[in-house]
Amino acid sequence: MDYTVAVPDLRPAPSKSASRIAQFLSNRASIGAICESSRWLGRRMARAVEGTPLPIVELGAGFGAVTRFLPETTVSIERDAARFNHLKAAFPERAIIDTCAVAYMNDLAQPTTVVSSIPSVNNPEFGELRASVSRAFKNGLIGQFVVYTYFPVNPFGDIFPKGEMLGYEIRNLPPAFVWSYSC
Ligand SMILES: C[S@@+](CC[C@H](N)C(=O)[O-])C[C@H]1O[C@@H](n2cnc3c(N)ncnc32)[C@H](O)[C@@H]1O
Repeated sequence: MDYTVAVPDLRPAPSKSASRIAQFLSNRASIGAICESSRWLGRRMARAVEGTPLPIVELGAGFGAVTRFLPETTVSIERDAARFNHLKAAFPERAIIDTCAVAYMNDLAQPTTVVSSIPSVNNPEFGELRASVSRAFKNGLIGQFVVYTYFPVNPFGDIFPKGEMLGYEIRNLPPAFVWSYSC
């Protein structure tokens, strides 16, 4: 006699809230932040590079929280496919490139102002990014570099001769420090 029967799948279907929590955690891990930057932080980042005579490149554009305050001529880099597709749809006139920021910085060909949202903490690739930024700066290819952090830790201070904390944006989750570097 054959006693084998198909075993029914008794696992409960994940509830909506469980899958939302999973999605939240996975988003958080992949962007290195609790959520996208607030409009106040986005504006502050854009103000930091206002009037720059150099072309602007944005690293780690995400869903465009900073992008939308930067000039139309900005080139935005985002390697995550879902975020890249969102940016392409939200900013159809902009130059959005789906590549790795490190590769982009390694190929930089002209002096540029860089606005970066790529996390410096809990990011195993941060060392590579720092090295590419350092190389580009030594080759005279970065006129200004602007970044935000969630800790009062100066992430590029030893690379650029001039660096300052421009301000602290409390209307962001978490509150963020904005840093600007130049030669
Ligand atoms: C903390 S989020 C910032 C998103 C948005 N700019 C903001 O401020 O809300 C970092 C973004 O950088 C992207 N990113 C991280 N490392 C990257 C890399 N090496 N090359 C390109 N994009 C990267 C992530 O996919 C994510 O969208």
